[in-house]
Amino acid sequence: MASSLTSLVNDDGRYQKSFQLFLERSSEHQCMQDFIHNKLPDILASIGNGKSHLNVIGVGSGAGDIDLEMLSELHQKHPGVTVDNEVVEPSSQQLHNYRVSVSQKKDLDYITFTWNKMTASEFEEHWKEKKMTKKADFIHMIQMLYYVKDPAATISFFQSLLDKNGKLLIILVSGESGWGKLWRTYRHQLCNPDISQCVTTEDIKNILDSKGVRYQNYELPSQMDITECFTEGDEKGELLLDFLTEVLNFSKTASPELKAGVLKLLRHPECSVESNGKVIFNNNLGVIVIEQLT
Ligand SMILES: C[S@@+](CC[C@H](N)C(=O)[O-])C[C@H]1O[C@@H](n2cnc3c(N)ncnc32)[C@H](O)[C@@H]1O
Repeated sequence: MASSLTSLVNDDGRYQKSFQLFLERSSEHQCMQDFIHNKLPDILASIGNGKSHLNVIGVGSGAGDIDLEMLSELHQKHPGVTVDNEVVEPSSQQLHNYRVSVSQKKDLDYITFTWNKMTASEFEEHWKEKKMTKKADFIHMIQMLYYVKDPAATISFFQSLLDKNGKLLIILVSGESGWGKLWRTYRHQLCNPDISQCVTTEDIKNILDSKGVRYQNYELPSQMDITECFTEGDEKGELLLDFLTEVLNFSKTASPELKAGVLKLLRHPECSVESNGKVIFNNNLGVIVIEQLT
């Protein structure tokens, strides 16, 4: 990452604002919901080994919208089973939003929530310090592996927590998405490896293949309207550009060459299609499902 640039995640307020706008401008959560309702039920049916209590860990849960939908599918597949749900989320604002959402929902009595305001690596430390022996039936990390220093080590740790028939679900942008093209071209200028890894599911599959870890894999088509990014000075366009580049105030702090290069690339046919005056960025996601190490 160019030394004059600051990572967006250093400013949680702006990060959360840009993420919220990204959700509004994209079909991100819609495509996840399609997966959760159409494919996930079969995956969830295979966990638990007939137990009456299931342990779930959500890592980087955000405001919990997607987590609660998955928990609802889990409940439908395993009615009468109680659930212990560990939430691992470093943003106090997001954790608060998740708790508010839980307090407003009925029918969640079968779940006990444990709120861990911490990063994935702090959770790992805490787990090891406490010499926890509890095993998990379902662990998910949705759009969060970018933010850990060592995605391979993080996957190994959480995979080691899986119980018999347990599943670890990872969702990240697909290698075939516009994000993949953006990062292959501008990784060194945009990504700060101390903070953000710019990984796609392609990178994760390569890591798993090299270790001989077996996995299931799904592609989820998704789009993002980035038209506003091309109107100089547009406040929302600047927020979206921050989210796309993961750079705080990208428009104001990037060099003119980098800014021009990124804007040109975002319109490139490998990143976006243009139709009816809109620029639609390829936001395809990939899903990877890993089992307990045997
Ligand atoms: C892109 S959001 C995804 C939120 C949610 N999973 C979703 O898909 O809507 C990434 C989340 O990961 C959290 N996060 C950032 N760094 C993290 C880390 N090191 N460990 C765990 N979570 C982290 C952020 O606070 C944020 O809530």
